[in-house]
Amino acid sequence: MNVAIMGFGVVGSGVAEVIAQNADHISEQGLGDLRLSHILDIRDFPGHAFSRYMTKDVNDILSDDETRIVVETMGGLEPAFTFVSACLKKGKHVVTSNKELVAKKGFALLELARANNVNFLFEAAVGGGIPLIRPLSLCLAANRVQEIVGILNGTSNFILSKMITDGMAFGDALRLAQEKGYAEKDPTADVEGIDACRKICILASLASGSHVYPDGVFTEGITRLTKEDVAYAEALGCVIKLIARAVRLQNGQWCVTVAPALVPESHLLSDVSGVFNACVVRGDMVGEVLFYGQGAGKLATASAVVADVIDCVQHDEKRRTFGWGPAREGLLADPMEAPARLFVRAKTADKAADTAKLAAALPGCTLLESAEDDLVFVTPEAKEGALRSAAAGLGLGAASVIRLF
Ligand code: HSE
Repeated sequence: MNVAIMGFGVVGSGVAEVIAQNADHISEQGLGDLRLSHILDIRDFPGHAFSRYMTKDVNDILSDDETRIVVETMGGLEPAFTFVSACLKKGKHVVTSNKELVAKKGFALLELARANNVNFLFEAAVGGGIPLIRPLSLCLAANRVQEIVGILNGTSNFILSKMITDGMAFGDALRLAQEKGYAEKDPTADVEGIDACRKICILASLASGSHVYPDGVFTEGITRLTKEDVAYAEALGCVIKLIARAVRLQNGQWCVTVAPALVPESHLLSDVSGVFNACVVRGDMVGEVLFYGQGAGKLATASAVVADVIDCVQHDEKRRTFGWGPAREGLLADPMEAPARLFVRAKTADKAADTAKLAAALPGCTLLESAEDDLVFVTPEAKEGALRSAAAGLGLGAASVIRLF
């Protein structure tokens, strides 16, 4: 079956490579005959091994009835949304690795796919090469999913790992991540938690059955974390990780957040280092299931894309049903109402006086041994919003407020 690729960047070129290298093997397994038909990109690739497939005109793909499957690896919302919509309307299956597209337009595109009796698949949009969408939708289908918690951004995990194991400052670790090609073109999405937010929104949408849009989700990145925070976390027997989490509450609402957290060294997520991702899914029947692997990277991500392409070949006439319905009013709970324990590192000019103020305002805090101009403490468990107000009410220069996992 003919396959077109839109976007010949890291992942798109990986998809072309996987098809070129493994099409024979895939065919021998009886999984279908994959043939590249077009590669859409606005750039020129003179002398490239795939240059005969190159086009700058999306209409070459849209008007080619032989091309039944289109891979979208352009990234970003536009023109990806317009092109993907056009492909679906033309009755072509679409496979994407574009988490921004799925997180923001997933419901609309799923509806369009349904209306045109084709598939819209996005296994590579979360966790790169880690199978997550299909297991969550199929293998765990008998469960009411209670919680999804994970490390879903490889770049920020790489940066934090470098800060933890090599004592690097945030800026130096970010530069290293960029040199290694892990960070997105604009690293803001990686380091501000936006990328992880898109991914947890996709997983929360699958688990809840209703579209969870990123703009409704509390999102905090890692840019304000310092080597001091990392050192204090270590003193507490913890490491700092960027944790994406979606929890089903007893009232049926979902609490969805992305924020750094102090993870105890005994917890399995604490050992997930470098660019690796991991995700724990807790179902009411199965208990906890752990997914772990390369959350980014050319061939790892392309591997998930091509698996979706194979699925489209096998379900050319019959639709896959991974997906969700429209957003539901009141689905998301306010995380500030949820119970939490906070680590606070604040600047103090008078440690003794501020310690006394803290004891009066927030009884039950555990004080950590700290530098003379630092007041570092861990709060008891209470509603997060109330804890933050009480900490802010001390009038200290709060340097860091981080949740305990
Ligand atoms: N920039 C992303 C990451 C790539 O670091 O995880 C995969 O989505």
